[in-house]
Amino acid sequence: MRVPMIAGNWKMNTTVVEAVKLVREVCPELDRIDGVVKVVCPPFISLTAVKKLLKGSSIKLGAQNLYFEEKGAYTGEISPLMLADLCQFVIVGHSERRQYFNETGEIVNKKVIAALKSGLTPILCVGESLKENEAGRTADMVTGQLKDALAGVDSLRDLVIAYEPVWAIGTGRAATGEQAERTIGLIRHNISILYNKETAERTLVLYGGSVTADNVAEFVRQPEIDGGLVGGASLKADQFVSIVRQTSEIKR
Ligand code: PGA
Repeated sequence: MRVPMIAGNWKMNTTVVEAVKLVREVCPELDRIDGVVKVVCPPFISLTAVKKLLKGSSIKLGAQNLYFEEKGAYTGEISPLMLADLCQFVIVGHSERRQYFNETGEIVNKKVIAALKSGLTPILCVGESLKENEAGRTADMVTGQLKDALAGVDSLRDLVIAYEPVWAIGTGRAATGEQAERTIGLIRHNISILYNKETAERTLVLYGGSVTADNVAEFVRQPEIDGGLVGGASLKADQFVSIVRQTSEIKR
């Protein structure tokens, strides 16, 4: 049995003061909802403050990125060792990082390996662009990204996958439940080939891309979809709480 997950990716939003305010708003509500793993991923600089607020609650903390080296002369970077003290999850391979920061499959792979080595659980993002989608290359792209990211990774025990079609991120144009279900089914099939059936059945695979309180039910009703990676709507307390609550009720 997979326990569903909703993770909020705050991206480059919220000052420390705003992050604290948002957590204070969502935390008591979220804490009352069970049957869902609840994760918030604020910007690096707010991790310490948010960690303090989440102490004793059921809400988990994640970072949005990491560098693959443990320490050294890498000005401006944050290492897995630094994060392992602060949080449990880390988003890796988000399409915005692939697109704006030139993260290749090889870099994503190094980050996944570094995160796992430090005891962090990567939330590995894969997804095709609009052009690739229209050319019927979704399966190829997602399969390739998975293979690249997981090269040399022996066990998926502590890894979550998020299928995020690039054309659905921040656009208000979400995939349909059926589209997401099909691709996530394919992801699970790939995992069973790369690892085994048991691993495929155990691994959480989320959908991300314009998930809101209005459409989350369409996704989490699908048997292969284990929850969501939520961007914009995770910044609105009432939306995020509603997304988590609906997921808990539907997946019960
Ligand atoms: P969105 O972002 O919900 O704002 O589309 C999702 C994500 O990028 O993780």
